[in-house]
Amino acid sequence: MKKKLHIIYFSPTGTTLKILLSISKGFPDYEIIMHDLTRPEARPEVHITDGVVLFGVPVYAGRVQVNAVERMKNITGADVPAAAVVVYGNRAFEDALVELKSILKNKGFIPVAAGAFIGEHSYADAGHPVALGRPDAEDDTHALDFGRSIASKVKKGDMNIPDVPGNVPYKELALPKGATPKTDDEKCIICGACKKACPTGAMIIAEKVTSNPDLCIMCMACAKVCPRKARYIDTPQINERIEMLVQNCHARREPQFFL
Ligand SMILES: Cc1cc2nc3c(=O)[nH]c(=O)nc-3n(C[C@H](O)[C@H](O)[C@H](O)COP(=O)(O)O)c2cc1C
Ligand code: SF4
Ligand code: SF4
Repeated sequence: MKKKLHIIYFSPTGTTLKILLSISKGFPDYEIIMHDLTRPEARPEVHITDGVVLFGVPVYAGRVQVNAVERMKNITGADVPAAAVVVYGNRAFEDALVELKSILKNKGFIPVAAGAFIGEHSYADAGHPVALGRPDAEDDTHALDFGRSIASKVKKGDMNIPDVPGNVPYKELALPKGATPKTDDEKCIICGACKKACPTGAMIIAEKVTSNPDLCIMCMACAKVCPRKARYIDTPQINERIEMLVQNCHARREPQFFL
């Protein structure tokens, strides 16, 4: 029987998923089982007893994205080796990796590997190119190397848990509250793609397309899938933040692994 590679992820704009799929190429002999936590209703109940697990989440405000933590509440392991993978938008991952490592331990996994990768910033677009187009071919190569290293470590039976950067206690969560992108009604063709992509069920499709700020996590999945580029940010604090990112976070950061 084939060994199993479980891929567990929350990935509104798809960069975390891309990285995990590249890492999974380092496990050619494994059967891949996907657990997608991105859909609004996703709360899978899974107890994993064998194989290897890749856990991937985006970094929001230097921490593990909060909805991801909630949605993995009912996932547990029986001392199964796992890799903690955080994906960030070329600013910093701060306490996210140490947090994810601790979450995995508490769930009964053995975090034998950890990695921080770079994905196109949720707020990036052609006019605000923060890590635009990443992960790219170089990132894929790093991810494949990381996957091969994890597979080889597990094969040797090496269950050593690596140290990772980050502070405990974690930094306080400072997420945008009460904000949501707006729709340009002139451009919108009411196709519904944004509603399908929204991980929190915040999109409302009626005569006009709107979104509920109480549910919105400002992930920008709606904007990235919109074929008419009709979704835009109209919140001054967030636009200032984006200008800061463009100014300060253009130097390319590279992935880091801990094994
Ligand atoms: C609300 C919010 C907060 C974010 N905070 C950070 C951060 O602290 N550091 C960083 O480098 N990127 C940050 N990002 C960018 C995402 O981590 C990055 O774009 C990631 O690739 C998104 O993953 P996904 O494509 O799987 O959704 C943030 C994005 C959002 C929407
Ligand atoms: S994806 Fe864009 S065009 Fe389609 S309904 Fe949403 S906002 Fe309108
Ligand atoms: S409405 Fe908010 S939560 Fe939904 S996809 Fe858009 S930015 Fe993300």
